[in-house]
Amino acid sequence: MVIVLVAACAEDRPRPDGGDAGARVHPAGILDPASEAFHGKELARRNWSFTTCARCHGEDFAGGAAKVSCLTCHADGPTACTTCHGDGPTTGAHALHRTGATCVDCHRVPASWDAPGHIVDDAAPAEVTFGARASITLDPAHRAGPPAYEGGRCTNVYCHGDVLPFPTATSEPRWDDTPVGGCNRCHGAPPPDHAQDHCATCHPTSAPHIDGVIQVGSTSGCSGCHGDASSPAPPNDLDGNRLTTALGVGAHRAHLDVPTGLRGPIACATCHLVPATVGAPGHIDSMLPAEVTAGLGWDRAAQTCASAWCHQASRPRWTEAGVVACGTCHGVPPADASHSPSMPLTQCASCHPRTMTPAGTLILTPGPNGPTSEHIDGDVDLL
Ligand code: HEC
Ligand code: HEC
Ligand code: HEC
Ligand code: HEC
Ligand code: HEC
Ligand code: HEC
Ligand code: HEC
Ligand code: HEC
Ligand code: HEC
Ligand code: HEC
Repeated sequence: MVIVLVAACAEDRPRPDGGDAGARVHPAGILDPASEAFHGKELARRNWSFTTCARCHGEDFAGGAAKVSCLTCHADGPTACTTCHGDGPTTGAHALHRTGATCVDCHRVPASWDAPGHIVDDAAPAEVTFGARASITLDPAHRAGPPAYEGGRCTNVYCHGDVLPFPTATSEPRWDDTPVGGCNRCHGAPPPDHAQDHCATCHPTSAPHIDGVIQVGSTSGCSGCHGDASSPAPPNDLDGNRLTTALGVGAHRAHLDVPTGLRGPIACATCHLVPATVGAPGHIDSMLPAEVTAGLGWDRAAQTCASAWCHQASRPRWTEAGVVACGTCHGVPPADASHSPSMPLTQCASCHPRTMTPAGTLILTPGPNGPTSEHIDGDVDLL
């Protein structure tokens, strides 16, 4: 590199290296980063005494008596963070952490270059001082100690899963490790207490990651993974389907809303074991599909209930809409000895008064969980 001589300044100033006056102020190599005389190294040897340089190069480093400006090469000034750090270090795992972490996660970040503990009177190596994120503790039982960086290795650091219920073999990484593996580096994919591995079913893909919150479901409560604001029953099903032609959706709402008015709502418990909490036994502790109460004889291939009382001999398909009407489950009236084919609907109430009105309509009685009815309640209601 070319060194510019400014004789006027050189003559009347002591040389920083204490050498002969009259020669160049700085030794050759002042601009060569590979040289021991490089000005950055000289500054470090001088415990970052910028005031020494300012004596000749000016308080504002714009030239001063030396008439050589630092700002031609360091536009932001020689004491700007970027002059010494650029876009940030690339040593060790710095580059890997550039997305997802910031300096403050691992270092005390100085407010200015001359802040105590940064470089002035502070010999290498750099201090690793963990920020709040590494110290996150979801359950104290899973934290063995405070986060630490020792011998090039991180221990008890939340970010790498060391404070989760199931740390992995690489939850205590070395700063010079080459990361091996993928999502299973910090936690299992899925963790070993999981029965299902399609993360997005239960953890929204938009959830912030490594933020100290285990985001389960898109909303709190029972509609977080299935159903919507009106009910935890599908739609949405677990894949987000909303059409009744999807097996996960099917006739759920037809059974819960009963738009035909054939009876009141049919509770989830009629067809499923209903969990009191997300983690309750029988809920998500097995592989898909969802379990249907055994007594109904749910036949997944045929998409129908083989032994449910409700539909009598008719076996409508779960995903087929509009197939249930007066007359599809039993005759109106049934063709048996108790009935004559000519009986009109208005006559039913004379023998089935708790089910039918004299006007020939089904009786629905308002209740706290929707209307109730003696129709399709499991026994034949007579006088
Ligand atoms: C005694 C006055 C004086 C002091 C103190 C001084 N310099 Fe200089 N510096 C000069 C002069 C004069 C030049 C012009 C080249 C020469 O004479 O060596 C110069 C040149 C330089 C150059 C080369 C610039 C170029 O474009 O060639 C750098 C870099 C530099 N100084 C850095 C520093 C740093 C860093 C310090 C503080 C550690 C410092 N100087 C302290 C006077 C000084
Ligand atoms: C001719 C260009 C040039 C001039 C003028 C110049 N520098 Fe530099 N300076 C450099 C280069 C090149 C580097 C090394 C950058 C790198 O390693 O990425 C550097 C690095 C530095 C560093 C960083 C040291 C470190 O360890 O990270 C400091 C501080 C610095 N210069 C101060 C000064 C000061 C003070 C002056 C004026 C007195 C000055 N420089 C003038 C080119 C210059
Ligand atoms: C994930 C943690 C982490 C993050 C984030 C991080 N560092 Fe570091 N840093 C370290 C570790 C570990 C070392 C090595 C300490 C040692 O020498 O053992 C280190 C070393 C350093 C050093 C000493 C020189 C070197 O390259 O080793 C500097 C300077 C530094 N970091 C600056 C920064 C700055 C500036 C940022 C933000 C842009 C940053 N670090 C972000 C962990 C981190
Ligand atoms: C003159 C050069 C220089 C400037 C300017 C500078 N740093 Fe540094 N910084 C260093 C060096 C050298 C280290 C390594 C210190 C060590 O090894 O102990 C360092 C270390 C760090 C570290 C690691 C933690 C530590 O203190 O060791 C962080 C973070 C950091 N600097 C941020 C900043 C920020 C932010 C700014 C601007 C406000 C800044 N630095 C300005 C040279 C500088
Ligand atoms: C069937 C639903 C479901 C699926 C699918 C699922 N998780 Fe989870 N996950 C949960 C529940 C529930 C928790 C416990 C939340 C709590 O304890 O607060 C959890 C907790 C976690 C935790 C926290 C640590 C732990 O073991 O408790 C991690 C990490 C995690 N899941 C990752 C995954 C990954 C990765 C996948 C996909 C490979 C996945 N999960 C698939 C329901 C699921
Ligand atoms: C660097 C460590 C690390 C890696 C690598 C990692 N995770 Fe995680 N992950 C965590 C931590 C820590 C948690 C605990 C919850 C939190 O803070 O977000 C978590 C939680 C999760 C969860 C639970 C939901 C939530 O709250 O975030 C899912 C799902 C998940 N991770 C999926 C993945 C997938 C998919 C990958 C691969 C693309 C992956 N993780 C890679 C550290 C990691
Ligand atoms: C009439 C019977 C019935 C009722 C009532 C019922 N379900 Fe279902 N449910 C089913 C059937 C059948 C399936 C499909 C099972 C399969 O995939 O093999 C199912 C599947 C599901 C699934 C899994 C969806 C998917 O994507 O695979 C969830 C979740 C579910 N039901 C929740 C509920 C909830 C919550 C309620 C009450 C609010 C409810 N169900 C009421 C019969 C019912
Ligand atoms: C973390 C996501 C998630 C949340 C939150 C959730 N569920 Fe589920 N739910 C599922 C999954 C996955 C299935 C399918 C389970 C299977 O494979 O057996 C399911 C199935 C069901 C079923 C069908 C029967 C079964 O267990 O298969 C019912 C009923 C049900 N959930 C009710 C609830 C209730 C009540 C809540 C609130 C206490 C709730 N769910 C909260 C994920 C969730
Ligand atoms: C989804 C199948 C289904 C449909 C459709 C249906 N029923 Fe029924 N009905 C039943 C079942 C099952 C019984 C047997 C008794 C019970 O469980 O209430 C029954 C019994 C009856 C009874 C006897 C009294 C009683 O409740 O036990 C009357 C009356 C009756 N239904 C009238 C009607 C009328 C009127 C319609 C059309 C508006 C109709 N049903 C449509 C399933 C159905
Ligand atoms: C004269 C009395 C009488 C009238 C009127 C009557 N039923 Fe019934 N119904 C009965 C008796 C008795 C039973 C019980 C039969 C049994 O248990 O074998 C019965 C049973 C039923 C059942 C149960 C299924 C079955 O086949 O046993 C249905 C459905 C039913 N009636 C529908 C109707 C409808 C619809 C009407 C009006 C169109 C009606 N009934 C009018 C006497 C009557």
